[in-house]
Amino acid sequence: MTTDLIVTLDGPSGTGKSTVSRLLARRLAIPYLDTGAFYRAATLAALAAGADLSDAEDVGRIVAEAEFSQRGDRMILNGEDVSETIRSAEVTLHVSEVSAHPSVRALLVGHQRAWLDANGRQAVVEGRDIGSVVFPNASHKIYLDARPEVRAARRADQVGDKDTTEVLADIQRRDHLDSTRAASPLTIPDDAIVLDTSDLDIDQVVDRIVALVADS
Ligand code: DC
Repeated sequence: MTTDLIVTLDGPSGTGKSTVSRLLARRLAIPYLDTGAFYRAATLAALAAGADLSDAEDVGRIVAEAEFSQRGDRMILNGEDVSETIRSAEVTLHVSEVSAHPSVRALLVGHQRAWLDANGRQAVVEGRDIGSVVFPNASHKIYLDARPEVRAARRADQVGDKDTTEVLADIQRRDHLDSTRAASPLTIPDDAIVLDTSDLDIDQVVDRIVALVADS
């Protein structure tokens, strides 16, 4: 029997979370789960069905009927690889609204817990509520943060957008929605280690987390 090794990485977007999680998983030789991709896929399913996104019951039904799986870094929705489509501006615009519904969260958290069991309970898992709600007993909890201007510049770079003012406004809008929603808001778990990545490069962040994991 293996021991659980669950490294949770929570925090807002633009902190380097996704890149750090992928590299960290590779360094630790364990799989990686991107829970934001589930919320994005749920949003895509609701949009494709023409649902009223404010209608919790309607959206909940669509998400309950959909099939989600993640293989490597590919997100599969109803048997189709949607890894690129879920990064579209339309999905990004609506994902906070869909992920605020408790019914949606309950369903997706169930899928995320099942994924961990199916993967031998050793993984790097990134999201917004992983250390606080999804895996509160995780062995290592990290919360990544960075100054808003730094996060906007990184995000603008990632999506090839030159207008950082607009990107900053969008990041602040999503931060506000994600951290003020009633169900599982973005929060720093009590027992998490907070790492500000503003003045660190990706390798430095990964090195620090590897050292933390090795130390305990
Ligand atoms: O990490 P991301 O930008 O792909 O996440 C997309 C959205 O999904 C984000 O705005 C909030 C939501 N999300 C969430 O509510 N809980 C998670 N564990 C992960 C993401």
